[in-house]
Amino acid sequence: MALHESVLEPAIPEHLRTERTLPSRLPPDYHPPFPAYAARFSKSADGVVIAVIGFQSKDRDSRFEDCQKKLVGFMRQQVGDVVPKHWDLSSVIDKRGYHNIAAIAYWATPSDYEAWLAESGFAAFWDDLKPDGDVGWFREAFSPSIDRFENIFSDNEVPEGVAHMRESVSRELQEHVYWGSMRDRLPISQTDLLVGNHDQRSAVDEVTDTRSQRIRVPGRRNLAIIRSGQDWSGTDAHERELYLTTMHPVLIKGMEYLTHQGSETGCFSNRFMEVIDADDASRCMEKTFGLGYFDDIASLEAWSKKHRTHLAIFGRFHQYAKELENNLQLRLFHEVLVLTPEQQDLEYVGCHEDTGMLTAR
Ligand code: HEM
Repeated sequence: MALHESVLEPAIPEHLRTERTLPSRLPPDYHPPFPAYAARFSKSADGVVIAVIGFQSKDRDSRFEDCQKKLVGFMRQQVGDVVPKHWDLSSVIDKRGYHNIAAIAYWATPSDYEAWLAESGFAAFWDDLKPDGDVGWFREAFSPSIDRFENIFSDNEVPEGVAHMRESVSRELQEHVYWGSMRDRLPISQTDLLVGNHDQRSAVDEVTDTRSQRIRVPGRRNLAIIRSGQDWSGTDAHERELYLTTMHPVLIKGMEYLTHQGSETGCFSNRFMEVIDADDASRCMEKTFGLGYFDDIASLEAWSKKHRTHLAIFGRFHQYAKELENNLQLRLFHEVLVLTPEQQDLEYVGCHEDTGMLTAR
């Protein structure tokens, strides 16, 4: 065995391994063509909370700016330990042409999140919100148990998202690049096929004008969520040019497909978001991410493995890496959650009907 192979580490940490009732997809004698790493959490960690909290409006007027200040204020509110462990502010113009700003925020436990809701004043603000046909607010909070999420990074130094709560970083992972590796990295997949509920209809069917309503969307069995991020802020001039002219346009095509035609592939909602400066919304931090909600992990797998748009991203990436002789400054990561209905808290106040899980009909 080559020295390099001996350092590969299984993606599922030892304390979460169990006797498989379902086979892994790992090919025999497999060695990934390039390295990737995962954030590791304390053995006592039993889950995390990831909340997407934001607002939307047709116009970017002074009221919009006020909402942004309010949202940032809640995120920054110092209330003991209950401040989010990490948050990013992000922006997107959605398929209806609405401007959306959202914070993606992370807490180590559901009780930390609940404490922040109460002590920051956000819960009181949220409960007081009235749909006004102008600015809509959404709150999508996910609380996966530790066996229902996985993360993967192209580098082992700079944390993103959930990795801000890591205890350590893995060695090079065994399970990545082959199709099915995402599923193999999820502890729950050792014993559960994670099939979604394709027949479930949402209460939203009954509602005609979502912009004049406060709507709670029920959780769905095995809803699959991906946050797939790209960070080119650390690239040199040559790589930046290569990224922006060859990789980024192919990524945009894939994201446009999922945003506008994703329902063909089981994608309820996709937002291709720019990470922005919380003090200057016009400034992009040279980071983007796709935030996709799928009816189950099989649909997400099928899009990534079979659809021309992700195959083009995947193919272009291999060329890109080759052109840079595998010496990349571009950083990539993703985090994937597969949730029980109770692990989803979805509420929309005055949002248009193509917002997030409101589309799940
Ligand atoms: C897997 C490239 C964006 C969904 C992969 C893999 C690569 C890749 C190299 C194999 C990863 C591994 O296991 O090591 C890229 C690049 C992107 C990008 C270069 C952007 C520049 C996205 C986005 C999404 C996505 C935005 C979804 C919103 C997936 C999924 C897999 C995957 C679900 C896992 C497939 C599986 O293991 O079965 N991608 N991707 N990718 N990608 Fe992408």
